[in-house]
Amino acid sequence: MENSSEDEWPFVFPQGTKIGEGRVSLVNKLGPDWVIKEVNPINERGEQRSKEAIEAMKSPERVKILNKEQVILEKIFGKDHFAKHSFVLGKDKEGKEKYFMVQRRILGQTVRELIGEGGECKYKDEKEAILKNREQCREILVGVKRAVVEFGVPGDFHLGNIAEDEEVKKLVVVDFDSPTLDGEIVLAPKELFESKTPYILENVLERLERIKKYEEWLVEAGRFEVRLNVEGYDEAVKKIEEKKEEIDGWVRENKERERMEKVESFMKIVFVGEVVKQTTDEILEKARAILGEKVNEPESISLLEKIREIGAEAGDREFWMAKFLEVLR
Ligand SMILES: Nc1ncnc2c1ncn2[C@@H]1O[C@H](COP(=O)(O)OP(=O)(O)O)[C@@H](O)[C@H]1O
Ligand SMILES: [Mg+2]
Repeated sequence: MENSSEDEWPFVFPQGTKIGEGRVSLVNKLGPDWVIKEVNPINERGEQRSKEAIEAMKSPERVKILNKEQVILEKIFGKDHFAKHSFVLGKDKEGKEKYFMVQRRILGQTVRELIGEGGECKYKDEKEAILKNREQCREILVGVKRAVVEFGVPGDFHLGNIAEDEEVKKLVVVDFDSPTLDGEIVLAPKELFESKTPYILENVLERLERIKKYEEWLVEAGRFEVRLNVEGYDEAVKKIEEKKEEIDGWVRENKERERMEKVESFMKIVFVGEVVKQTTDEILEKARAILGEKVNEPESISLLEKIREIGAEAGDREFWMAKFLEVLR
C-alpha cells in the first residue's frame, strides 16, 4: 500500500488499485466495497494542477458545501440511483489535515463504456441504452430535473457518470459534480463574472440539451410524458437562458472594449497628433504585436502589406483607425 506509513490513513483497508479516472478524480478501490477519489493531478486541459488547487478542492469549506449537497442529492435520486460521496478526515504525508472522499463501489461499468461495437458492449448507441432502461432512466431524469429546480443549474449529467450495477441491475449516478458550486458561478450577479463563467455556462447548457434529448426519446417511446414533468423546471431553465443572454452581452462588450483599446494603443504608438513619427518597419513591428495571433489571417496580412506599401508617408489617422478596427473584429 502506498504512503501508508506516512499518512494517517483513516481506513481499515489499504488503498487498492485504480479502477477509474475522470477530469477531476482518480478512482481507487478501497477494500471490496468502497472506492476512494483523489484529485486528478492533471486538469481537464491536460495541465498539472497546482498544490494549492488540489488542496482547495478538499478544503473544509468546500467539503462542507459538497457534503450538504450529497445529502440533498441522495434524497432527490433515492439511494438506489445515487451513490453518495462521504468525506473522511485524515492526514496527508506532511501531517496536515485532509479530507478523503469515499463512495460505495459499483460493480459494473458506466453506461458510456457499455455503448459501442465491441464484444463487451451491451448497447449500440445512446438511444438504445436509454430506451432499454427506460423506467430507470425516467427516474434518474426526473431526479436530474428536480436537482435543477433545487440548485438552479444541472449537475454533471452524462452516461459516463452513471454506472450499471451488474448485481442488482440498477443504474447509479456515481458523479454529479457540484451544482451548488457551478450555480454560484453561473447565476452570480453580473459584477461577479469570472473568467471561468462562460466555460461553465457552456457545460450547463450542454447538460440541459442532453436532458431535453433523452426526455424526447422517452416521450417518443410512449407513456412517459406526464411522469417526466417536474414543477418549476421550465422556470429554472428560463433563468439560465436569461443568464446566457446577459453573459453573451458581457462577452461582446468586453471584446469591443478590448478591440478599441488595441487600436488606440496602436494609434498612440504610431501617431503624435496627426503626424506619423515612425519608420515603416517600426510601424509594422508594432502592428504585428497588436494583431497577436491574428497576424497570420488573410485580412491582417493585407493590412500589413498596405502599411509596408504606403509606408510612413501616408499618415492618415482615420484611415488606419478604420483599417485596424476592421481587422481586429
Ligand atoms: N463508485 C464507483 N464505483 C465504481 N467505479 C467508479 C465509481 N465512481 C467512479 N468510478 C469510475 O471512475 C470514473 C471517474 O469517476 P468520476 O467520479 O466520474 O470522476 P470525475 O469527477 O473525474 O469525472 C467513472 O467514470 C467510473 O468509471
Ligand atoms: Mg465523471
